[in-house]
Amino acid sequence: MPAGGFSVSAPAGVEFEAKITPIVIISCIMAATGGLMFGYDVGISGGVTSMDDFLIEFFPTVYRKKHEDKESNYCKYDNQGLQLFTSSLYLAGLTATFFASYTTRNLGRRLTMLIAGVFFIIGVIFNGAAQNLAMLIVGRILLGCGVGFANQAVPLFLSEIAPTRIRGGLNILFQLNVTIGILFANLINYGTSKIHPWGWRLSLSLAGIPALLLTLGALFVTDTPNSLIERGHLEEGKRVLKKIRGTENVDPEFNEIVEASRIAHEVKHPFRNLLLRRNRPQLVIAVLLQIFQQFTGINAIMFYAPVLFNTLGFKSDASLYSAVITGAVNVLSTLVSVYSVDKVGRRLLLLEAGVQMFFSQAIIAVILGIKVTDHSDNLSHGWAIIVVVLVCTFVSSFAWSWGPLGWLIPSETFPLETRSAGQSVTVCVNLLFTFVIAQAFLSMLCHMKYGIFAFFSGWVLIMSVFVLFLLPETKNVPIEEMTERVWKQHWFWKRFVDDDEHTLNGDAEKNGKISNGKHGV
Ligand code: BGC
Repeated sequence: MPAGGFSVSAPAGVEFEAKITPIVIISCIMAATGGLMFGYDVGISGGVTSMDDFLIEFFPTVYRKKHEDKESNYCKYDNQGLQLFTSSLYLAGLTATFFASYTTRNLGRRLTMLIAGVFFIIGVIFNGAAQNLAMLIVGRILLGCGVGFANQAVPLFLSEIAPTRIRGGLNILFQLNVTIGILFANLINYGTSKIHPWGWRLSLSLAGIPALLLTLGALFVTDTPNSLIERGHLEEGKRVLKKIRGTENVDPEFNEIVEASRIAHEVKHPFRNLLLRRNRPQLVIAVLLQIFQQFTGINAIMFYAPVLFNTLGFKSDASLYSAVITGAVNVLSTLVSVYSVDKVGRRLLLLEAGVQMFFSQAIIAVILGIKVTDHSDNLSHGWAIIVVVLVCTFVSSFAWSWGPLGWLIPSETFPLETRSAGQSVTVCVNLLFTFVIAQAFLSMLCHMKYGIFAFFSGWVLIMSVFVLFLLPETKNVPIEEMTERVWKQHWFWKRFVDDDEHTLNGDAEKNGKISNGKHGV
């Protein structure tokens, strides 16, 4: 058996002194509202795009198709324009995240969150007041920019500010907010779908609440010591470290961050640096985790739950109701992860969930394959309930595994020198594949029919094998010690890090001195 591949935790090192202080908890709760906004945007579009008033105003052809009986059950919503409404957010976000990489590194995590909040507020105004399709799309694009900035800064902020032993749990507050955002969006859609003809407007405008929360939160919190020190504010960094750790004895941690930031300063081109062989393990894992997270098929369920349930023959009301149930399961199951991630570790959660997700999707495929044909949905009440239960089983396992860990692991494994650039690639790939799924799902449903669930379950199998062999455990390892204690110990990845040691020293020598000024992206 390959050494390290199955190890549950890295060898123990010195633990930094750190109390769990109120300021850390409050800062994390406030920053995590960035997730609320992301979740609300993910959740709101599915419900809005199944509201007749919205379709009549912006997508009259879809409206007509929806009400024509001869259209195939699996195809009635297949419209690229409609999908573009949902997806434009992700396209904007994946572009914005590269600018956000610059701001997180040079202006700090906190200011980047503030920029996100401002984008969100303007985007909400455009959407809520939309008079035509253009305003609607511009609003979604601005929201997307907000997502690009928030998803870049928030996970890094959480991972850096948290004491090591509860880092996983605090980081997952981001995902917890994502799920709360999705649930609220579902509940609100359920209520506003009964308000004619402007219910959809209310749905889109209420995104203003999480937007304001994030903006206020960003004004209130302090930046992370890692970011302050990286930007040359050593004294302030130390003061903040003492305050958040609730102790005067912060020298070991402070010195470690100063050392990480010294190396970070030698890097003039973070994105180029990211491509070096020694950063290969983190890069490959960050990219694959995002692709895998989206290929679980979660967003096929999340965006289009109401549409999906409609397709499955539930009446309009019942479909929103079912979406609310999946939303609630999503929130509650994320709590399981907050509680257990620093105890049982990342790997165990991912592996257990792999089994659960595989079986639930495979069985859904079989049931739909037998029961739902193009023009008649024979899904009786009983079968429909079984499908909802299976969807919930799937969502719950996603919620304590790939959902939160897709964000947690990349934010904690990159060294400081490439953390912002690495996170940017993470967000970009995540949104790119979210976009691909959002754009393709309705067409895939129309062409692959029930096979779409078999398709996703196949992917779940592949990703579980990857976790089993190639994903190291990162629980309880201090964030600036990952290279030494995780990558250099791993049976497969160590060859990249070890081989490159002399290159690192060579780079440092070439650069000669430590620069204190600003640096590029
Ligand atoms: C994913 C989103 C998804 C959400 C569902 C997040 O981690 O990145 O794409 O919609 O989880 O809870």
